[in-house]
Amino acid sequence: MSRTLVIDTVGKVGQEVTLSGWVHVRRDMGKLVFIDLRDRTGTIQAVFLPNRKELLEQANVLRPEFCVSLTGTVNARPDKQVNPDMATGTVELEVTGLTILNEAKTPPFEIDRDTRGISEELRLKYRYLDLRTDRMRKNLKLRADVTSSFRKFLVGEGFTEVETPILTKGTPEGSREYLVPSRLHPGKFYVLPQSPQQFKQLLMVAGAERYFQVARCFRDEDQRGDRQPEFTQLDMEMSFVYGEEDVMGIVEGMFKTMLKEVAPEKRLTFTEFPRIGYAEAMEKYGSDKPDLRKDKNDPNELAFCWVVDFPLFEMSETEGRLVSAHHPFTAPKDEDLPLLDAEPAKVRAKAYDIVLNGYEIGGGSIRIHKRELQNRIFQILGIPDGDIALRFGHILEAFEYGAPPHGGIAPGLDRVVMLLAGEPNIREVIPFPKTGDARGLMMGDPSEIPSAQLAEANIEIAKK
Ligand code: AMO
Repeated sequence: MSRTLVIDTVGKVGQEVTLSGWVHVRRDMGKLVFIDLRDRTGTIQAVFLPNRKELLEQANVLRPEFCVSLTGTVNARPDKQVNPDMATGTVELEVTGLTILNEAKTPPFEIDRDTRGISEELRLKYRYLDLRTDRMRKNLKLRADVTSSFRKFLVGEGFTEVETPILTKGTPEGSREYLVPSRLHPGKFYVLPQSPQQFKQLLMVAGAERYFQVARCFRDEDQRGDRQPEFTQLDMEMSFVYGEEDVMGIVEGMFKTMLKEVAPEKRLTFTEFPRIGYAEAMEKYGSDKPDLRKDKNDPNELAFCWVVDFPLFEMSETEGRLVSAHHPFTAPKDEDLPLLDAEPAKVRAKAYDIVLNGYEIGGGSIRIHKRELQNRIFQILGIPDGDIALRFGHILEAFEYGAPPHGGIAPGLDRVVMLLAGEPNIREVIPFPKTGDARGLMMGDPSEIPSAQLAEANIEIAKK
Protein backbone atom coordinates (compact mmCIF):
# COMPACT_ATOMS: atom_id res chain seq x y z
CA MET A 1 0.00 0.00 0.00
CA SER A 2 1.37 3.42 -0.83
CA ARG A 3 2.38 5.68 2.02
CA THR A 4 -0.03 8.15 3.58
CA LEU A 5 1.33 11.25 5.33
CA VAL A 6 0.36 11.69 8.97
CA ILE A 7 -1.44 14.98 8.36
CA ASP A 8 -3.64 13.40 5.66
CA THR A 9 -5.13 10.81 8.04
CA VAL A 10 -7.63 13.42 9.26
CA GLY A 11 -9.56 13.11 5.99
CA LYS A 12 -9.36 9.30 5.84
CA VAL A 13 -11.59 8.11 8.67
CA GLY A 14 -12.65 4.51 8.12
CA GLN A 15 -9.87 3.85 5.59
CA GLU A 16 -6.91 1.53 5.80
CA VAL A 17 -3.57 3.34 5.47
CA THR A 18 0.16 2.76 5.82
CA LEU A 19 2.13 5.44 7.63
CA SER A 20 5.92 5.69 7.92
CA GLY A 21 8.01 7.67 10.34
CA TRP A 22 9.55 7.58 13.79
CA VAL A 23 8.28 6.53 17.21
CA HIS A 24 7.88 9.91 18.91
CA VAL A 25 6.69 8.64 22.29
CA ARG A 26 5.45 5.34 23.59
CA ARG A 27 2.91 4.94 26.36
CA ASP A 28 2.08 1.60 27.96
CA MET A 29 -1.44 1.55 29.39
CA GLY A 30 -1.59 -1.92 30.92
CA LYS A 31 -3.00 -4.03 28.12
CA LEU A 32 -2.78 -1.34 25.47
CA VAL A 33 0.23 0.30 23.90
CA PHE A 34 0.00 3.77 22.42
CA ILE A 35 2.66 5.30 20.30
CA ASP A 36 2.79 8.73 18.72
CA LEU A 37 4.15 8.31 15.21
CA ARG A 38 5.97 11.29 13.72
CA ASP A 39 6.70 12.16 10.11
CA ARG A 40 7.57 15.47 8.46
CA THR A 41 3.95 16.59 8.60
CA GLY A 42 3.19 15.95 12.27
CA THR A 43 2.36 13.21 14.76
CA ILE A 44 -0.57 10.85 15.15
CA GLN A 45 -1.61 8.59 18.01
CA ALA A 46 -1.49 4.91 17.09
CA VAL A 47 -2.99 2.24 19.30
CA PHE A 48 -2.10 -1.44 19.58
CA LEU A 49 -5.17 -3.27 20.95
CA PRO A 50 -5.01 -6.33 23.25
CA ASN A 51 -6.92 -8.53 20.76
CA ARG A 52 -3.83 -8.70 18.54
CA LYS A 53 -1.43 -10.43 20.90
CA GLU A 54 1.44 -10.93 18.46
CA LEU A 55 1.35 -7.34 17.35
CA LEU A 56 1.27 -6.15 20.94
CA GLU A 57 4.39 -8.18 21.67
CA GLN A 58 6.10 -6.60 18.69
CA ALA A 59 5.00 -3.18 19.92
CA ASN A 60 6.64 -3.87 23.25
CA VAL A 61 10.10 -3.68 21.69
CA LEU A 62 9.43 -0.23 20.17
CA ARG A 63 11.49 2.59 21.68
CA PRO A 64 11.60 6.29 20.89
CA GLU A 65 13.13 7.09 17.48
CA PHE A 66 12.72 3.60 16.01
CA CYS A 67 11.96 4.05 12.31
CA VAL A 68 8.74 2.16 11.49
CA SER A 69 5.87 1.60 9.10
CA LEU A 70 2.41 1.10 10.53
CA THR A 71 -0.61 -0.23 8.72
CA GLY A 72 -4.04 0.21 10.23
CA THR A 73 -7.46 1.78 10.16
CA VAL A 74 -8.02 5.48 10.77
CA ASN A 75 -10.71 5.79 13.45
CA ALA A 76 -12.48 8.93 14.61
CA ARG A 77 -11.74 9.54 18.28
CA PRO A 78 -14.74 9.69 20.63
CA ASP A 79 -15.55 13.32 21.50
CA LYS A 80 -14.04 13.07 24.97
CA GLN A 81 -10.70 11.91 23.58
CA VAL A 82 -10.28 14.59 20.91
CA ASN A 83 -6.99 16.41 21.43
CA PRO A 84 -7.35 20.03 20.28
CA ASP A 85 -3.56 20.59 20.59
CA MET A 86 -2.79 18.04 17.88
CA ALA A 87 -3.46 18.63 14.17
CA THR A 88 -4.52 14.95 14.00
CA GLY A 89 -6.29 15.15 17.36
CA THR A 90 -9.65 14.03 15.96
CA VAL A 91 -8.35 10.64 14.77
CA GLU A 92 -6.15 7.74 15.80
CA LEU A 93 -4.70 4.77 14.00
CA GLU A 94 -5.79 1.27 15.06
CA VAL A 95 -2.69 -0.69 14.16
CA THR A 96 -3.01 -3.96 12.23
CA GLY A 97 0.56 -4.28 10.98
CA LEU A 98 4.00 -3.11 12.11
CA THR A 99 7.32 -3.15 10.25
CA ILE A 100 10.42 -2.03 12.07
CA LEU A 101 12.51 -0.33 9.37
CA ASN A 102 15.39 0.43 11.71
CA GLU A 103 16.02 0.34 15.42
CA ALA A 104 17.40 3.33 17.31
CA LYS A 105 19.80 3.64 20.21
CA THR A 106 18.54 5.74 23.10
CA PRO A 107 19.08 9.30 21.85
CA PRO A 108 21.45 11.52 23.90
CA PHE A 109 18.54 13.88 24.56
CA GLU A 110 14.77 13.67 24.24
CA ILE A 111 13.42 14.46 20.80
CA ASP A 112 9.80 14.91 21.89
CA ARG A 113 10.56 18.17 23.70
CA ASP A 114 12.27 21.48 23.10
CA THR A 115 16.08 21.09 23.23
CA ARG A 116 16.77 24.71 24.19
CA GLY A 117 17.90 23.64 27.66
CA ILE A 118 20.27 20.91 26.39
CA SER A 119 24.03 21.54 26.10
CA GLU A 120 24.62 23.10 22.71
CA GLU A 121 27.80 21.04 22.16
CA LEU A 122 25.70 17.89 22.44
CA ARG A 123 22.99 19.26 20.18
CA LEU A 124 25.52 20.24 17.52
CA LYS A 125 27.31 16.89 17.69
CA TYR A 126 23.99 15.11 17.14
CA ARG A 127 22.48 17.81 14.95
CA TYR A 128 20.63 15.21 12.86
CA LEU A 129 18.69 14.32 16.02
CA ASP A 130 18.24 17.91 17.17
CA LEU A 131 16.74 18.71 13.76
CA ARG A 132 14.07 16.05 14.37
CA THR A 133 12.53 18.19 17.13
CA ASP A 134 9.42 20.20 16.45
CA ARG A 135 10.99 23.63 16.98
CA MET A 136 14.01 22.96 14.80
CA ARG A 137 11.87 21.40 12.07
CA LYS A 138 9.69 24.51 12.09
CA ASN A 139 12.74 26.76 11.92
CA LEU A 140 14.04 24.91 8.85
CA LYS A 141 10.64 25.15 7.22
CA LEU A 142 10.32 28.86 8.00
CA ARG A 143 13.74 29.47 6.48
CA ALA A 144 12.73 27.65 3.30
CA ASP A 145 9.44 29.56 3.14
CA VAL A 146 11.16 32.95 3.59
CA THR A 147 13.68 32.12 0.86
CA SER A 148 11.06 30.94 -1.58
CA SER A 149 8.86 33.98 -0.95
CA PHE A 150 11.80 36.33 -1.62
CA ARG A 151 12.72 34.35 -4.72
CA LYS A 152 9.18 34.45 -6.10
CA PHE A 153 8.90 38.19 -5.47
CA LEU A 154 12.18 39.01 -7.16
CA VAL A 155 11.53 36.80 -10.17
CA GLY A 156 8.18 38.60 -10.49
CA GLU A 157 10.04 41.92 -10.49
CA GLY A 158 12.25 40.82 -13.38
CA PHE A 159 15.34 39.73 -11.40
CA THR A 160 17.46 36.85 -12.72
CA GLU A 161 19.07 34.38 -10.31
CA VAL A 162 22.77 33.97 -11.10
CA GLU A 163 25.39 31.82 -9.36
CA THR A 164 28.80 33.37 -8.82
CA PRO A 165 32.07 31.58 -7.95
CA ILE A 166 33.05 30.37 -4.51
CA LEU A 167 36.70 29.93 -5.48
CA THR A 168 37.70 33.48 -6.23
CA LYS A 169 39.90 36.42 -5.36
CA GLY A 170 39.51 38.61 -2.29
CA THR A 171 37.04 41.47 -2.22
CA PRO A 172 37.65 43.94 0.57
CA GLU A 173 34.72 44.09 2.99
CA GLY A 174 36.62 44.47 6.17
CA SER A 175 36.86 40.85 7.32
CA ARG A 176 39.63 38.31 7.27
CA GLU A 177 39.24 35.87 4.39
CA TYR A 178 39.32 32.09 4.18
CA LEU A 179 42.10 30.87 1.89
CA VAL A 180 42.14 27.84 -0.39
CA PRO A 181 45.54 26.71 -1.68
CA SER A 182 45.87 26.03 -5.38
CA ARG A 183 47.31 22.64 -6.36
CA LEU A 184 47.96 23.61 -9.97
CA HIS A 185 49.55 26.93 -9.11
CA PRO A 186 51.95 26.37 -6.21
CA GLY A 187 52.13 29.29 -3.82
CA LYS A 188 48.86 30.77 -5.07
CA PHE A 189 45.50 30.83 -3.32
CA TYR A 190 41.85 31.21 -3.98
CA VAL A 191 39.83 33.18 -1.48
CA LEU A 192 36.29 32.30 -0.42
CA PRO A 193 33.97 35.27 -1.06
CA GLN A 194 32.95 37.53 1.84
CA SER A 195 30.08 38.39 -0.49
CA PRO A 196 29.58 38.31 -4.27
CA GLN A 197 30.04 42.12 -4.32
CA GLN A 198 32.35 42.49 -7.33
CA PHE A 199 30.67 39.74 -9.33
CA LYS A 200 27.27 41.32 -8.97
CA GLN A 201 28.63 44.67 -10.10
CA LEU A 202 30.34 42.98 -13.04
CA LEU A 203 26.99 41.34 -13.86
CA MET A 204 25.55 44.86 -14.14
CA VAL A 205 28.31 45.69 -16.61
CA ALA A 206 27.30 42.45 -18.34
CA GLY A 207 23.78 43.79 -18.85
CA ALA A 208 21.97 41.55 -16.34
CA GLU A 209 20.19 44.68 -15.02
CA ARG A 210 18.44 42.88 -12.17
CA TYR A 211 20.33 40.10 -10.37
CA PHE A 212 19.81 38.13 -7.19
CA GLN A 213 21.34 35.11 -5.55
CA VAL A 214 20.85 33.16 -2.35
CA ALA A 215 24.55 33.49 -1.71
CA ARG A 216 26.78 31.72 0.78
CA CYS A 217 29.36 34.13 2.21
CA PHE A 218 32.49 33.39 4.23
CA ARG A 219 34.16 35.61 6.82
CA ASP A 220 36.91 34.56 9.18
CA GLU A 221 35.89 36.83 12.03
CA ASP A 222 35.14 36.44 15.72
CA GLN A 223 31.79 34.82 16.31
CA ARG A 224 28.77 36.30 18.02
CA GLY A 225 25.15 35.27 18.31
CA ASP A 226 24.34 37.00 15.05
CA ARG A 227 27.52 36.04 13.20
CA GLN A 228 28.75 32.80 11.67
CA PRO A 229 31.87 32.13 9.59
CA GLU A 230 29.61 31.07 6.75
CA PHE A 231 26.21 32.60 6.36
CA THR A 232 23.67 33.37 3.66
CA GLN A 233 22.77 36.64 2.00
CA LEU A 234 19.91 37.39 -0.31
CA ASP A 235 22.26 39.27 -2.58
CA MET A 236 20.70 41.75 -5.04
CA GLU A 237 21.83 44.32 -7.58
CA MET A 238 19.93 46.60 -9.99
CA SER A 239 20.99 48.76 -12.92
CA PHE A 240 19.58 52.16 -13.85
CA VAL A 241 18.89 53.09 -10.26
CA TYR A 242 19.86 56.64 -9.52
CA GLY A 243 18.98 57.10 -5.89
CA GLU A 244 18.88 55.03 -2.75
CA GLU A 245 15.07 55.00 -2.75
CA ASP A 246 15.00 52.95 -5.96
CA VAL A 247 16.59 50.00 -4.15
CA MET A 248 14.95 50.60 -0.78
CA GLY A 249 11.46 50.63 -2.34
CA ILE A 250 11.89 47.19 -3.92
CA VAL A 251 13.32 45.71 -0.73
CA GLU A 252 10.56 47.14 1.43
CA GLY A 253 7.94 45.62 -0.90
CA MET A 254 9.77 42.30 -0.81
CA PHE A 255 9.76 42.17 3.00
CA LYS A 256 6.10 43.17 3.31
CA THR A 257 5.04 40.53 0.77
CA MET A 258 7.09 37.87 2.55
CA LEU A 259 5.54 38.72 5.92
CA LYS A 260 2.02 38.47 4.52
CA GLU A 261 2.84 35.09 2.99
CA VAL A 262 4.82 33.36 5.71
CA ALA A 263 4.26 35.22 8.98
CA PRO A 264 0.79 36.80 8.89
CA GLU A 265 0.71 36.85 12.71
CA LYS A 266 3.42 39.55 12.77
CA ARG A 267 2.53 43.22 13.19
CA LEU A 268 4.50 46.10 11.74
CA THR A 269 5.22 49.02 14.07
CA PHE A 270 5.50 51.24 10.98
CA THR A 271 3.65 50.36 7.79
CA GLU A 272 6.10 52.60 5.92
CA PHE A 273 9.62 51.90 7.17
CA PRO A 274 10.99 55.20 8.54
CA ARG A 275 14.25 56.62 7.12
CA ILE A 276 16.61 57.81 9.83
CA GLY A 277 19.86 59.63 9.11
CA TYR A 278 22.97 58.04 10.61
CA ALA A 279 23.80 61.19 12.58
CA GLU A 280 20.27 61.38 13.95
CA ALA A 281 20.27 57.69 14.89
CA MET A 282 23.54 58.06 16.78
CA GLU A 283 22.35 61.19 18.56
CA LYS A 284 18.86 60.00 19.43
CA TYR A 285 19.43 56.29 20.06
CA GLY A 286 23.20 56.02 20.48
CA SER A 287 23.18 53.29 17.83
CA ASP A 288 23.05 52.90 14.07
CA LYS A 289 20.70 49.96 14.56
CA PRO A 290 18.00 51.33 16.83
CA ASP A 291 15.33 49.06 18.26
CA LEU A 292 12.13 51.02 17.61
CA ARG A 293 9.61 48.50 18.93
CA LYS A 294 6.82 49.98 21.07
CA ASP A 295 6.55 46.80 23.20
CA LYS A 296 9.71 44.75 23.43
CA ASN A 297 7.80 41.91 25.09
CA ASP A 298 5.50 41.43 22.12
CA PRO A 299 6.97 38.53 20.14
CA ASN A 300 4.95 39.52 17.06
CA GLU A 301 6.01 43.15 16.81
CA LEU A 302 8.41 43.99 13.99
CA ALA A 303 9.94 47.47 13.89
CA PHE A 304 11.73 47.94 10.58
CA CYS A 305 13.61 51.11 9.74
CA TRP A 306 16.17 52.31 7.25
CA VAL A 307 19.33 54.02 8.42
CA VAL A 308 20.68 56.28 5.66
CA ASP A 309 23.33 58.94 5.04
CA PHE A 310 26.19 56.95 6.53
CA PRO A 311 29.67 58.45 6.38
CA LEU A 312 31.66 57.14 3.40
CA PHE A 313 34.78 56.56 5.50
CA GLU A 314 35.55 55.87 9.11
CA MET A 315 38.79 56.01 11.04
CA SER A 316 40.09 52.53 11.81
CA GLU A 317 41.38 52.56 15.36
CA THR A 318 43.56 49.50 14.83
CA GLU A 319 45.07 50.73 11.59
CA GLY A 320 45.02 54.49 12.31
CA ARG A 321 43.79 55.31 8.80
CA LEU A 322 40.59 55.88 6.86
CA VAL A 323 38.70 52.75 5.82
CA SER A 324 35.42 52.38 3.95
CA ALA A 325 32.43 52.42 6.27
CA HIS A 326 30.53 50.05 3.95
CA HIS A 327 32.89 48.99 1.16
CA PRO A 328 35.03 50.90 -1.34
CA PHE A 329 32.53 50.48 -4.19
CA THR A 330 29.97 52.70 -2.45
CA ALA A 331 29.22 56.03 -4.14
CA PRO A 332 29.65 59.32 -2.25
CA LYS A 333 26.71 61.74 -2.12
CA ASP A 334 26.91 64.07 -5.12
CA GLU A 335 26.72 67.18 -2.95
CA ASP A 336 29.64 65.99 -0.80
CA LEU A 337 32.00 65.31 -3.73
CA PRO A 338 33.81 68.66 -3.27
CA LEU A 339 34.87 67.52 0.23
CA LEU A 340 36.45 64.30 -1.01
CA ASP A 341 40.07 65.44 -1.01
CA ALA A 342 40.11 68.06 1.75
CA GLU A 343 37.73 66.57 4.31
CA PRO A 344 37.03 62.95 3.38
CA ALA A 345 35.75 62.13 6.88
CA LYS A 346 32.83 64.52 6.26
CA VAL A 347 31.71 62.88 3.03
CA ARG A 348 28.43 60.99 3.27
CA ALA A 349 27.68 57.84 1.31
CA LYS A 350 24.74 56.70 -0.79
CA ALA A 351 24.50 53.78 1.63
CA TYR A 352 21.60 52.32 3.60
CA ASP A 353 21.07 49.64 6.19
CA ILE A 354 17.79 47.93 6.85
CA VAL A 355 17.33 47.44 10.58
CA LEU A 356 14.81 45.19 12.36
CA ASN A 357 14.20 45.20 16.12
CA GLY A 358 17.72 46.47 16.82
CA TYR A 359 19.56 44.19 14.37
CA GLU A 360 21.18 45.19 11.10
CA ILE A 361 19.50 42.74 8.75
CA GLY A 362 20.90 44.13 5.50
CA GLY A 363 23.21 46.72 4.03
CA GLY A 364 23.72 48.16 0.60
CA SER A 365 24.54 51.20 -1.47
CA ILE A 366 24.44 52.92 -4.80
CA ARG A 367 27.80 52.12 -6.40
CA ILE A 368 30.45 54.03 -8.19
CA HIS A 369 30.27 53.16 -11.90
CA LYS A 370 33.02 55.41 -13.28
CA ARG A 371 36.67 54.44 -13.34
CA GLU A 372 38.07 57.77 -12.32
CA LEU A 373 36.01 58.16 -9.17
CA GLN A 374 36.59 54.54 -8.15
CA ASN A 375 40.32 55.02 -8.58
CA ARG A 376 40.24 58.16 -6.46
CA ILE A 377 38.48 56.30 -3.65
CA PHE A 378 41.14 53.58 -3.68
CA GLN A 379 43.79 56.31 -3.47
CA ILE A 380 42.07 58.05 -0.55
CA LEU A 381 42.01 54.64 1.17
CA GLY A 382 45.79 54.67 0.84
CA ILE A 383 46.07 51.73 -1.55
CA PRO A 384 49.30 52.12 -3.59
CA ASP A 385 48.72 52.49 -7.36
CA GLY A 386 50.46 49.18 -8.10
CA ASP A 387 48.15 47.38 -5.67
CA ILE A 388 45.09 49.07 -7.14
CA ALA A 389 45.98 47.71 -10.56
CA LEU A 390 46.74 44.27 -9.19
CA ARG A 391 43.68 43.91 -6.96
CA PHE A 392 41.05 45.95 -8.80
CA GLY A 393 42.31 46.33 -12.36
CA HIS A 394 39.52 44.06 -13.64
CA ILE A 395 36.66 46.12 -12.21
CA LEU A 396 38.25 49.47 -13.12
CA GLU A 397 38.67 48.24 -16.66
CA ALA A 398 35.08 46.95 -16.76
CA PHE A 399 33.82 50.40 -15.82
CA GLU A 400 35.32 51.66 -19.08
CA TYR A 401 32.93 49.56 -21.17
CA GLY A 402 29.67 51.41 -20.64
CA ALA A 403 29.02 50.38 -17.02
CA PRO A 404 25.44 51.45 -16.15
CA PRO A 405 24.58 53.30 -12.94
CA HIS A 406 23.73 50.60 -10.40
CA GLY A 407 23.12 49.80 -6.76
CA GLY A 408 22.06 46.96 -4.52
CA ILE A 409 21.78 45.43 -1.11
CA ALA A 410 22.24 42.13 0.69
CA PRO A 411 19.80 41.17 3.46
CA GLY A 412 21.28 38.54 5.78
CA LEU A 413 18.89 35.60 5.57
CA ASP A 414 20.00 34.04 8.86
CA ARG A 415 19.26 37.17 10.87
CA VAL A 416 15.89 37.70 9.19
CA VAL A 417 14.78 34.13 9.97
CA MET A 418 16.19 34.34 13.51
CA LEU A 419 14.02 37.38 14.23
CA LEU A 420 10.90 35.90 12.65
CA ALA A 421 11.36 32.67 14.59
CA GLY A 422 11.95 34.56 17.84
CA GLU A 423 15.26 32.75 18.33
CA PRO A 424 18.10 34.28 20.36
CA ASN A 425 20.88 33.49 17.87
CA ILE A 426 21.33 32.53 14.22
CA ARG A 427 22.65 29.04 15.03
CA GLU A 428 19.04 28.02 15.76
CA VAL A 429 18.02 28.74 12.17
CA ILE A 430 21.10 27.33 10.42
CA PRO A 431 20.85 23.57 9.89
CA PHE A 432 24.53 22.83 10.50
CA PRO A 433 26.13 25.84 12.19
CA LYS A 434 29.61 26.24 13.65
CA THR A 435 30.38 26.71 17.33
CA GLY A 436 31.55 30.04 18.76
CA ASP A 437 35.12 29.06 17.94
CA ALA A 438 34.23 28.02 14.40
CA ARG A 439 34.18 24.24 14.77
CA GLY A 440 31.72 21.88 13.12
CA LEU A 441 31.06 19.37 15.91
CA MET A 442 29.15 16.79 13.91
CA MET A 443 31.71 16.32 11.14
CA GLY A 444 34.69 17.31 13.29
CA ASP A 445 35.95 20.23 11.25
CA PRO A 446 38.42 21.79 10.89
CA SER A 447 40.56 18.67 10.78
CA GLU A 448 44.11 17.65 10.06
CA ILE A 449 44.90 16.57 6.52
CA PRO A 450 47.12 13.58 5.59
CA SER A 451 50.62 14.71 4.64
CA ALA A 452 50.33 13.36 1.08
CA GLN A 453 47.28 15.55 0.51
CA LEU A 454 49.08 18.54 2.00
CA ALA A 455 52.07 17.97 -0.26
CA GLU A 456 49.79 17.84 -3.27
CA ALA A 457 48.35 21.21 -2.26
CA ASN A 458 51.92 22.54 -1.86
CA ILE A 459 51.48 23.16 1.86
CA GLU A 460 53.92 22.75 4.70
CA ILE A 461 52.69 23.24 8.24
CA ALA A 462 54.88 25.72 10.14
CA LYS A 463 56.31 24.25 13.35
CA LYS A 464 55.34 26.19 16.47
P1 AMO B 1 27.41 43.59 4.65
O1 AMO B 1 28.81 43.25 4.96
O2 AMO B 1 26.80 44.76 5.36
O3 AMO B 1 27.25 43.96 3.10
O4 AMO B 1 26.52 42.32 4.86
C1 AMO B 1 25.14 42.34 4.56
C2 AMO B 1 24.34 41.57 5.61
O5 AMO B 1 24.84 40.26 5.78
C3 AMO B 1 24.64 39.84 7.13
N1 AMO B 1 25.93 39.41 7.71
C4 AMO B 1 26.09 38.32 8.48
N2 AMO B 1 25.21 37.40 8.92
C5 AMO B 1 25.68 36.38 9.66
N3 AMO B 1 26.99 36.22 9.97
C6 AMO B 1 27.91 37.11 9.56
N4 AMO B 1 29.20 36.92 9.86
C7 AMO B 1 27.48 38.22 8.78
N5 AMO B 1 28.09 39.29 8.20
C8 AMO B 1 27.15 39.99 7.57
C9 AMO B 1 24.04 41.01 7.88
C10 AMO B 1 24.43 42.17 7.01
O6 AMO B 1 23.53 43.25 7.14
N6 AMO B 1 28.31 43.18 -0.30
C11 AMO B 1 27.63 43.95 0.73
C12 AMO B 1 26.19 44.20 0.40
C13 AMO B 1 25.96 45.28 -0.64
O7 AMO B 1 26.60 46.34 -0.57
O8 AMO B 1 25.08 45.04 -1.49
C14 AMO B 1 27.74 43.23 2.05
O9 AMO B 1 28.12 42.09 2.15
O10 AMO B 1 22.64 40.87 7.93
